[in-house]
Amino acid sequence: MSEAADRVQAPFGTREVTISGTEEIGPYRVFSCADADGPQPAAGQFYMLASSERWGGGCDERPYLPRAISVLAAADRQLSFVLEAVGPGTERLAELELGDGLRLLGPLGNGFTAPQAGVRAILCGGGIGVAPLAMLQQELIAQGHEVTALLGFRDSEHAAGAEFLEAAQVATDDGSVGQAGLVTELLLAELDRDANAVIYSCGPPQMLDAIRAISTASGVPAQLALEAPMACGYGACYGCVVKTADGSFRRSCVDGPVVAADELAADWLTVGGGG
Ligand SMILES: Cc1cc2nc3c(=O)[nH]c(=O)nc-3n(C[C@H](O)[C@H](O)[C@H](O)COP(=O)(O)OP(=O)(O)OC[C@H]3O[C@@H](n4cnc5c(N)ncnc54)[C@H](O)[C@@H]3O)c2cc1C
Ligand code: FES
Repeated sequence: MSEAADRVQAPFGTREVTISGTEEIGPYRVFSCADADGPQPAAGQFYMLASSERWGGGCDERPYLPRAISVLAAADRQLSFVLEAVGPGTERLAELELGDGLRLLGPLGNGFTAPQAGVRAILCGGGIGVAPLAMLQQELIAQGHEVTALLGFRDSEHAAGAEFLEAAQVATDDGSVGQAGLVTELLLAELDRDANAVIYSCGPPQMLDAIRAISTASGVPAQLALEAPMACGYGACYGCVVKTADGSFRRSCVDGPVVAADELAADWLTVGGGG
């Protein structure tokens, strides 16, 4: 896990910004904002987001903690995020319209580390895990790296998420788009073809664990962006701990969310907050 000094650091405190763009892509909501006072984030970093209005505290409102959301794209101090509404926090964020206020804290956590020159990057993601991989793909292509993108979704509606990456091979659980089956099957085929690679992954915990096992068995290094549930996002609550291979626990918000696969304990999914 990379040292805190290596990463882009968040300015102190929460910033108030304004929604400057929204878009629906399949079941996903994309929104953007100008973050004039924030630094350029790295792919894999995230922000804690809350709407300025109707975010708890009223007599009919559930009090919310901010929600952790990966940065999808960042250029010229414009940030973009993509989310799938799965509960009250993401539903409220998905309702944000042009001109609405957004409170953000970040960029938080570490980011991915680029492969050495001549080593292929295999981006392997699932579901809403496309977000950090989309930004990583753009960064790696700009640096001249060879990049292969493999994405898995549950069905054709969710496979719209493949639009966030260039030239992605797709697998769906129901076979409605791309290859029928798991994205890890695409990964194994790519490693058979050429194993001089680093795997970069973000997605459901079970998928990340399958990639951890493939990395261990093949010896191909993998960087996994964990999405362990987070309460504070900056190291204070210990609600996001994951078990590491040496038996200790680390906070995935400050020691991650990107971790090397071989740093995770074999039982990280069932012990601590990883899953
Ligand atoms: C570093 C990081 C980056 C993330 N990036 C994105 C992103 O770019 N886009 C996006 O849509 N979501 C992202 N998430 C997940 C997002 O933070 C959660 O889905 C969100 O907090 C759910 O809040 P809620 O109130 O909508 O739903 P809740 O009521 O909190 O949860 C709804 C359902 O989702 C499950 N759930 C909640 N949080 C998680 C989680 N972290 N992992 C797995 N299951 C969970 C709950 O068990 C429940 O079944 C990220 C999470 C982390 C930690
Ligand atoms: S979310 Fe609070 S310590 Fe990580």
